[in-house]
Amino acid sequence: MSLQDQARAILMVNDRGGYTLPTDGLYPFQWNWDASVTALGWMTFDQKRAWEELRWLFKGQWRGGPNDGFVAQINFHAESDTYFPGPDEWGTDGAIGTQGIGTRTSSISQPPLHATMVRWMWMRACKASSSTDEQDLAKKEVMELLPRLVAHHRWWYRARDPKNTGLVVNIHPWETGMDNSPAWDEPLRHVPETTRPYARRDLGHVDASMRPPKSFYDRVVYLMDFNRAQGFDPEKILRTCPYQVNDIGIISILQRGSVDLIALCEEFGLVTEAREMAQRVQLTRASVNALWSPVWHQYVSRNAITGQLLDVPTSAGLLGAYAGFDGDVGSTIRHWLAETPYGLPSTRSTYVGFEPLRYWRGPVWQHINMLISVGLQDQGHNIEALEIRRRSEQLFSVAGFHEYYDPLSGKGLGGKTFSWTAATYLHWIADWKKK
Ligand code: GLC
Repeated sequence: MSLQDQARAILMVNDRGGYTLPTDGLYPFQWNWDASVTALGWMTFDQKRAWEELRWLFKGQWRGGPNDGFVAQINFHAESDTYFPGPDEWGTDGAIGTQGIGTRTSSISQPPLHATMVRWMWMRACKASSSTDEQDLAKKEVMELLPRLVAHHRWWYRARDPKNTGLVVNIHPWETGMDNSPAWDEPLRHVPETTRPYARRDLGHVDASMRPPKSFYDRVVYLMDFNRAQGFDPEKILRTCPYQVNDIGIISILQRGSVDLIALCEEFGLVTEAREMAQRVQLTRASVNALWSPVWHQYVSRNAITGQLLDVPTSAGLLGAYAGFDGDVGSTIRHWLAETPYGLPSTRSTYVGFEPLRYWRGPVWQHINMLISVGLQDQGHNIEALEIRRRSEQLFSVAGFHEYYDPLSGKGLGGKTFSWTAATYLHWIADWKKK
């Protein structure tokens, strides 16, 4: 079977009739940023199904109250006992904003990739190769999605940057999507370990050497419970949450999302919304300079409570070009590429906390490679952009569609037959090869 057919088959096997599991067993629900990347993949061979993915994601969007516009990290569309923490753990049932929404959800968000992915989907639908029906469908879907996307971006700016600093805050490492990055080690040290019992499920699916340790889980469970104890009230949370971080990943992805949202709003006549987002984009563009690391020559995250830079070179800090920020990461990326043979590791290999097998502490994630590469190309760094794509393609063809990969050996790691990895191949590699 060709790689393209294998990738399509993965999406079909993980399809639960409207939404796609990241991979069966390990992740039995719909995840936020996975859904957007996965929709891109569906878009290459079943446009109707692609739009459905986002419809299902936005079913879980909270409405009204201080969290109006919030989109959760997980939508629990169906029951499953193979994952911890499941829907009962988060305590969101009946929370303000959840009345009448179509699904149970977790209480934290994830990097807001949606506006960008919707724009890329829209651009694909506008191509001459799409049928008139597909184009009409896309127009209808974008028109329905736009107010929801605007509400979501407003939630980030309002709930997570109430003082208009330009740099949103996250309140849980899982919210960054880069769960156990070494950049979170310092802020997590200030978080108590929970003493309540709970049972992890991940270790039944994947070897412990590729997953975070117990002390990490004790703290993320504490933060989950803390959020619930505050009634999910953003004001209360920002007053006392022991973990508050300006994550450069979320900040860059939100920024690029807002840029794409402005373009869509302008195209679809939402002039006021476009203007509102433009102000936010300007503010972030100016503020993000505070997150430049002179040590690593890239952007890094910051502890929002102490104001200290979390001076750890992670791949999130290479998204500056993707976000359209002024700092030039081109030459830094050339160093990264010289140091590790397979794609861009999630943490630079020369950093003391680099672990090639353990989750976000070293392994390569293909959708991050795609975002960084696209961003580089936008800024004219074509050689580096193509080199990242070449190495990603090599990983796909040698190791298949894993959750992540060892940057030193190229071995596939974590969950197998992974949806966003397959979708990244379909959108970014398979199509490009045809040209
Ligand atoms: C893990 C990843 C997160 C992803 C989820 C589902 O929790 O860290 O980024 O969204 O798995 O794939």
